[in-house]
Amino acid sequence: MSDQQITLKPNDKTQTESCCAGSESAQTASRDNPADIRAEVQNHYGEVAALQLTGNASSDCCGSDLYAGEDLSQLPDAAVNSSRGCGNPHAIASLQPGETVLDLGSGGGLDVLLAARQVGPSGYVYGVDMNDRMLELARRNAAKAGAANVEFRKGDLEDLPLPDGTVDMIISNCVVNLTPDKSKALAEAYRVLSPGGRLAISDIVVDGDLSGLPVSEEQIRAGLSWAGCIAGALTISELNRLLQEAGFEEIEVTIEQRYTPDDFNGEIPTTLAGLRPEVVQDLLQRFTSSGIQARKPRG
Ligand SMILES: C[S@@+](CC[C@H](N)C(=O)[O-])C[C@H]1O[C@@H](n2cnc3c(N)ncnc32)[C@H](O)[C@@H]1O
Repeated sequence: MSDQQITLKPNDKTQTESCCAGSESAQTASRDNPADIRAEVQNHYGEVAALQLTGNASSDCCGSDLYAGEDLSQLPDAAVNSSRGCGNPHAIASLQPGETVLDLGSGGGLDVLLAARQVGPSGYVYGVDMNDRMLELARRNAAKAGAANVEFRKGDLEDLPLPDGTVDMIISNCVVNLTPDKSKALAEAYRVLSPGGRLAISDIVVDGDLSGLPVSEEQIRAGLSWAGCIAGALTISELNRLLQEAGFEEIEVTIEQRYTPDDFNGEIPTTLAGLRPEVVQDLLQRFTSSGIQARKPRG
């Protein structure tokens, strides 16, 4: 435990570029107030989508560099450039022709379009997102890509607009951390999966916990942005517990990347500026981009 004590400024938000880039719009969201969280997330991703829809977005951002093994060349620029994931769920999903897939928080549609290619014409891919502008962007991208086996539905992860037991595979890229009630979101994922169906998602999770630092977990989370995919990240043990409580088995969490100050574009979050560099490094590297897999029992 460090003997250094600092005071965090709760309104001074920041977030990592590797997940949800460039948010000057990130606002204070009280962790205790789901409506505040939703509003912050809606505002931020609405702006991300609007920039793409109006052609005003820069292309030097985003999560598309995470798709090393995928062929992005045939996809619309706006789908690639609007990517705000923190991993590549396709690397762990092993989608098969004919499968029905659901992408939770489908954003501009990149993962849906990649999945559509893999499941082929006999398969089908649903994208669910709560943001109208993201849905408009995703539908425009799907039309440009000529994808006939995809559909984007408006909905919340905590109340999915799909019937029980209808999906073979759920993918998602950096969205579960954004939901206020993760227990509900995972229960909904379980509900819509068919028996034996699988979950393969990328998300930010905390390795270990946020103790042993000169600031409390509450202060750390209050000082970071929820829309930036950091403040709402579960610990790996919380995630395991919630997946088990939802009914999942064969749960596997694989750490793929640990965050460093460089992932904040060289700018240490100002809320952490009073901490020694090695303490900041220790804190940030507990936040990881991880691959999360689980299965609904066959019945
Ligand atoms: C970090 S972005 C990721 C988008 C996409 N998965 C990607 O990799 O580019 C988060 C997306 O999830 C959506 N989202 C956030 N919380 C949601 C919720 N509770 N229900 C539905 N969509 C949500 C946002 O509108 C946004 O489009």
